[in-house]
Amino acid sequence: MPRTYFCQFMLKVNNLTKYFGNQLILDNLSFTVEDSEIVALVGPNGCGKTTLIKIIAGLEEKNQGVINIDKANKKITTGLIFQNYRDQILPWKTVAQNINFSLSLHTENWLEKRYKINSILRQTQLYPYRYKYFYELSGGMAQLAVFAKTIALNPGFYLFDEPFSAIDYHSSLKLQKQFLDLWEKTKTPTLLVTHNIDETIFLADKIIILSNLPTKIISIINNPIPRPRDFSCLGSNQAHELKKQILSYTTGFLV
Ligand SMILES: Nc1ncnc2c1ncn2[C@@H]1O[C@H](COP(=O)(O)OP(=O)(O)O)[C@@H](O)[C@H]1O
Ligand SMILES: [Mg+2]
Repeated sequence: MPRTYFCQFMLKVNNLTKYFGNQLILDNLSFTVEDSEIVALVGPNGCGKTTLIKIIAGLEEKNQGVINIDKANKKITTGLIFQNYRDQILPWKTVAQNINFSLSLHTENWLEKRYKINSILRQTQLYPYRYKYFYELSGGMAQLAVFAKTIALNPGFYLFDEPFSAIDYHSSLKLQKQFLDLWEKTKTPTLLVTHNIDETIFLADKIIILSNLPTKIISIINNPIPRPRDFSCLGSNQAHELKKQILSYTTGFLV
């Protein structure tokens, strides 16, 4: 497969440590996200996944460690989706107006904005819903609109905190597939927090398993399932083996 990027992307997290007061939250974490890679962070509630995402996004202080986001030494933009995604939208604006608001941070050229808004609305199949307010959309569709808003800016790196978890199982699967189809066009490197094992198997190239507090990396597992992927891969032997492997680490949280 030819690479779409001229420069190589790399997020490097080295020996990251974080305390809240005296409580050690993140204990010396090191990992990378490389070009064209989706990396899933899997861990139990309260183990510090959101804290880690916030530190990488520069919204939270770290105590120790180094974080480098590098694309051949160029500064890149990050597309961030928060766990409480509804905090990210303006409820008094429609879907199209929300996307327009995001784009306005980068350009005032209305022709360019109109072209981009229409293009992203068509790609996400949200075009018929462009004049709707968020309270008029289902959970899955609202979350898709948040993706549309984030993807419209064409960021160099995605940082997602449980973007598929606030909706029912079938809507979540559908949204994952919609995201994956969009992702195939750009292969934007992505760090994705989740606690859903099927989601990690369907989406990720690399799966980082986190422990309970104080949080360490228990294992980093490569996902051998080839791309492009569709739902049938979830029933494959490879998926079954991977699930067993992930469960062997994560069932320790349940006892
Ligand atoms: N601003 C904060 N001040 C103090 N403790 C916090 C703060 N934010 C999170 N915590 C604590 O840090 C731990 C990790 O939280 P969080 O990163 O939200 O976990 P996760 O996203 O994995 O569920 C939890 O015990 C939480 O109570
Ligand atoms: Mg969280």
